[in-house]
Amino acid sequence: MAEEKPRQFVGSTEFKKGLEGAITNESSISYVDGANGKLIYRGYSIDDLCQGGGGYEETAYLLIDGELPKRAQLEAFKKDLAGRRAIPQPVKDLITQIAPNTHPMNTLRTAVSMLGCLNPKEFEVTVENDLDIAMSLTAQIPTIVGATQRVRRGESIIDPDPSRSLSEDFMHMMTGKDPDPRTAEVMDMALIIHAEHGMNASTFSAMVTNSSLTDLYSSICAGIGSLKGPLHGGANEATLKTFTEIGDPATTEEWFSAAKAKKQKVMGFGHRVYRAYDPRAVIFDPVAKEFAERAGTGHLYEIAKKLEALVVADLGGKGIFPNVDFFSGVIYNAMGIDTDMFTPIFAVARIAGWSARILEYLPDNRLFRPRAVYVGDLEAQYVPIDER
Ligand code: CMC
Repeated sequence: MAEEKPRQFVGSTEFKKGLEGAITNESSISYVDGANGKLIYRGYSIDDLCQGGGGYEETAYLLIDGELPKRAQLEAFKKDLAGRRAIPQPVKDLITQIAPNTHPMNTLRTAVSMLGCLNPKEFEVTVENDLDIAMSLTAQIPTIVGATQRVRRGESIIDPDPSRSLSEDFMHMMTGKDPDPRTAEVMDMALIIHAEHGMNASTFSAMVTNSSLTDLYSSICAGIGSLKGPLHGGANEATLKTFTEIGDPATTEEWFSAAKAKKQKVMGFGHRVYRAYDPRAVIFDPVAKEFAERAGTGHLYEIAKKLEALVVADLGGKGIFPNVDFFSGVIYNAMGIDTDMFTPIFAVARIAGWSARILEYLPDNRLFRPRAVYVGDLEAQYVPIDER
C-alpha cells in the first residue's frame, strides 16, 4: 500500500478554513450573487417573488418543483399543505412540557424528531417518501412554532385553520389574532426571503446528514441545530439584543467604540458570500422603519441606522454590510413577537430550501466525506498509564 504524506495532503483544491470557496455539488435551486448583492431562486429575483403576490407557498413550490406553478397547481399545493398542518397530540404534549424552559429552537428540533418517531415510514428513504415528509414538515413547522410561542406565554395552543394561508395561519397560531393585511403581507415576504440561500451552514449540515441516506427528520434536525447558532440564523435574535442593550440612539457610537475595542463582532453584519449589501436587508430596511414607527419602537430603528452608518464607514471597505438578520428583528419585535422566536421564524421559511436541496441531491446521492489536513504526531511512543 502506498504511503501517504499526510502534511502535504490537501486534496485537489487550496485549503481554506471554514470550507471557504469550496464547491460541494451542482444545483439549480438558488444563486447568491455576492459581488452584486443579488439573490435568485430558480432564475427569479427575490424582489419579483416578493412583489408577485403568490405568497410563501408559491416560492416553496418553485424551490421544490423547479417551476413557477400555474394557478390550479398553486391552489392544489396550498390545499395539500393546509391539510397537513395539524400536529399529533403527543407533539402538543411535548411542547407543553418542554417549551416554557427551553429555547424554542431546541423545542422545534425535538418536536421534529418526535414527528419522525411517530411516522411509520420514517426510514423509507426514497424521493417520493422524502417529498411527502418535506411537505408535511413545511406545513407542520409553523404549527410547532406557533404552539411554542403560545405555551411560553402561558396561553393555550391554537389548532391550525386550513382556510388561511400558511403565513396568516402561522401568525394566528402565534398571536391568537388575525394579522392585518399589511402584517400578513410582510410575514409572507419574510418567509419568501428566508426560504433558501445557497450552501449555507444549515443547508450544508442537513445535506451532509442526509447524504448518509438517513431519514429526512434527522437531516432537518441537523439543519435546525445549525441554524440556531449566532453566526447563522441566531444572529436575528442577537441583533435585537444589541439594539436593546444600546437602548438610546445617542449612545450608539459609544457602544460601537467599546465593541471595537473588545474586537467584538457586530451581529447582523457581514457574510461569507456577499461583499455588497445583502439584498434581503435592502428589502427589509424600509419595512423595519414602517413597522417600528407604527409600533412606537422607532428608537430601535434609529439605533439600527446609526449602527449601520458607523459599521459601514469602518468596515464597508472590507465588504462588511448589514445582512438579512439586521432589520428582521425590528420588524418581528414590532409585530409583538418574542425575541427568542425570531430564529424559529427563519426555520419556518428555510424548511423549503433544506427540502429542495436534499430532494435535488438524493437521486444521484454521494456521501459527503471531506478530509482534514492532519497536523498531529505520527510516531508517538505509547507509554503505559502508570509510567506517564
Ligand atoms: N462585525 C465586525 N467584524 C466582522 C464582522 C462583524 N459582524 N463580520 C466579519 N468581520 C470581520 C472579521 O473580524 C474578520 O476581520 P479580520 O480579517 O480583520 O480578522 C473579517 O471580517 C472576516 O470575518 P470572518 O468571520 O472570517 O468571515 P466569515 O466569512 O467566516 O463569516 C459571518 C461570515 C457571517 C459568520 C461573519 O460576518 C459574522 O460573524 N457576522 C456576525 C453574525 C451574523 O450576522 N450572522 C448572520 C449571517 S446572514 C444570515 C444567515 O444566512 O445565516
